[in-house]
Amino acid sequence: MTPIIDVQQVNKAFGGLRVINDGSIQVTKGSITGMIGPNGAGKSTLFNLIAGALTPDSGRVLLDGEDITALSANARFHKGLLRTFQIAHEFSHMSALENLMMVPSHQPGENLFTTWFKPRLVREHDAKVRRRALEVIDFIGLYHVRNELAGNLSGGQKKLLELGRTMMTDAKVVLLDEIAAGVNRTLLGDLIGNIERLNQEMGYTFLVIEHDMDMIARLCDPVIVLAQGSVMMEGNIDDVQNNPEVIEAYFGGSAA
Ligand SMILES: Nc1ncnc2c1ncn2[C@@H]1O[C@H](COP(=O)(O)OP(=O)(O)OP(=O)(O)O)[C@@H](O)[C@H]1O
Ligand SMILES: [Mg+2]
Repeated sequence: MTPIIDVQQVNKAFGGLRVINDGSIQVTKGSITGMIGPNGAGKSTLFNLIAGALTPDSGRVLLDGEDITALSANARFHKGLLRTFQIAHEFSHMSALENLMMVPSHQPGENLFTTWFKPRLVREHDAKVRRRALEVIDFIGLYHVRNELAGNLSGGQKKLLELGRTMMTDAKVVLLDEIAAGVNRTLLGDLIGNIERLNQEMGYTFLVIEHDMDMIARLCDPVIVLAQGSVMMEGNIDDVQNNPEVIEAYFGGSAA
């Protein structure tokens, strides 16, 4: 089967520093694939190369078999490749529900022509977006705070809202970079449950960067280990945690 994400021998340097060295990873459609590695290994950089925030010096990125290396982040977004972002400052004064309704899509309301000449179409579309936003906010368990300003939500609730934003579009692949950081155990359980449901019920594929090994163990198979800009190994969580090279990379051998 064609991998949904296929990163082929990608290189990226910042100044003289080579951060991604011949990075090649494949993500299977329908999987929740984990990515771990020491600080500075290049995980977030690789995400940015996949999402289009960065362009590789060489190599290719394919989405479902299509070469997307030259496409902008926005074009990739519209193809269903999403990464979560922290709720931007300018959205913190809008309600949780409005934050979901703001997610860009092909909205007729944004086109001046349709706004002026087809107001009924715009109204119908807005009503549809609102219905969808209400469904999503219920799904992520934030219905009770739907009218609260996003800026007043707790850290964990903001993470749930970020995940909710990915559900406002037809996402195929969602990239999650350390969403568990700073989230309490109860909300983390909700977050994990939501990711599993999106995966199983809606067919989302996830690529998950996480330092929290419990979360990786609960959610991810396979797990890719990145070290110094290259893939060190890929396997299930047990293979990874028992691999001497991985232990060395994380603990400098002291754990052996
Ligand atoms: N825009 C940039 N300019 C210069 N160097 C950068 C830039 N972005 C990242 N780097 C460097 O690239 C290396 C990899 O960074 P990256 O953020 O990808 O690591 P990471 O694996 O996500 O680490 P962490 O687990 O700490 O988040 C680091 O040495 C970092 O300093
Ligand atoms: Mg990072």
